[in-house]
Amino acid sequence: MADLIYRPRRTRRSEAMRDLVAQAQLAPRNLVQPLFVVPGAGVKQPIEALTGQFHLSPDTAAQMAKEIRAAGVPAVLLFGLPPHKDAVGSYAARADAPVQEAVRRIKDAVPELVVICDLCLCEYTDHGHCGVLREDGGVDNDATLPLLMQAAVSQAEAGADVVAPSDMMDGRVGALRRALDETGFHETAILSYAVKYRSAFYGPFREAAGSAPKEGDRSTYQMDFRNGREALREARLDVAEGADMLLVKPGLPYLDVLQSVRAATELPVGAYHVSGEYAMLEAAAGRGLIDRDMAVTESLYAMRRAGADFIVTYYALEWAQRGLCR
Ligand code: PBG
Repeated sequence: MADLIYRPRRTRRSEAMRDLVAQAQLAPRNLVQPLFVVPGAGVKQPIEALTGQFHLSPDTAAQMAKEIRAAGVPAVLLFGLPPHKDAVGSYAARADAPVQEAVRRIKDAVPELVVICDLCLCEYTDHGHCGVLREDGGVDNDATLPLLMQAAVSQAEAGADVVAPSDMMDGRVGALRRALDETGFHETAILSYAVKYRSAFYGPFREAAGSAPKEGDRSTYQMDFRNGREALREARLDVAEGADMLLVKPGLPYLDVLQSVRAATELPVGAYHVSGEYAMLEAAAGRGLIDRDMAVTESLYAMRRAGADFIVTYYALEWAQRGLCR
């Protein structure tokens, strides 16, 4: 018989024992459900690239928001598909755009649900970049800021609780804070996608949002995936500029980054479990190669364990409704 002082298996002997010593927790209140809002009424159209997710008109988005809140999920993240795109993404700042309309409907239907608006131009520009273009085709950082400011104020006017800039322009958090304060929206929070990598894992989202760049890629503004330390600089800049919460994106491939950002700031930190991660899980589970429920739950716990206070995930509603957050 082995003479062992410490036997780690002692605390794994039963489910109750494992529950007792478990470190990370996962609850519906740790999740944020993304929703894709389209023009019209009565629309609930399955998104081919994101099985189980829907294109929703503002009215059906409000219905779904009720279900989301009833399931214990505290927040939604809204993306919009405008009826028309142009070079400067005009619809991003229009009061009659689908997202703004959805915010009003949702706040009307479920006032206590936290409504977060993704703030970026890529869904609204005809070229698909996250900012306006210079003549040489590059994205013009400083000319983009005023457009983001207008869009943020428009989202706040519609009733958004939080604006979430995902464009990766330098200085946008400070600019947005000023714009919101000057227009009286001191209470509108900023969730900054402080650490957002240029990633292949956004593929299905871009199909769902029609936001793939027509030419080139996002490598001049989104972060280089070879860099980890740079994430801390990005995070600290956004803290200094007035961000209320930070987001690390994507999730699972960047757990090291998530953990280091968590350690470097006192602000709440979220992880975005992005569309490509969702697609990989769905594809592998669809082929019977992995157990879907277990693999998704393990993925969500991994992000919690690495330090995510909340997780933006396409699984939020389903996992909360089916009681799988345990
Ligand atoms: C907008 C934005 C993107 C995602 C969230 N906000 C796409 C991108 O940067 O190209 C991706 C989300 C996902 O893949 O689930 N800039």
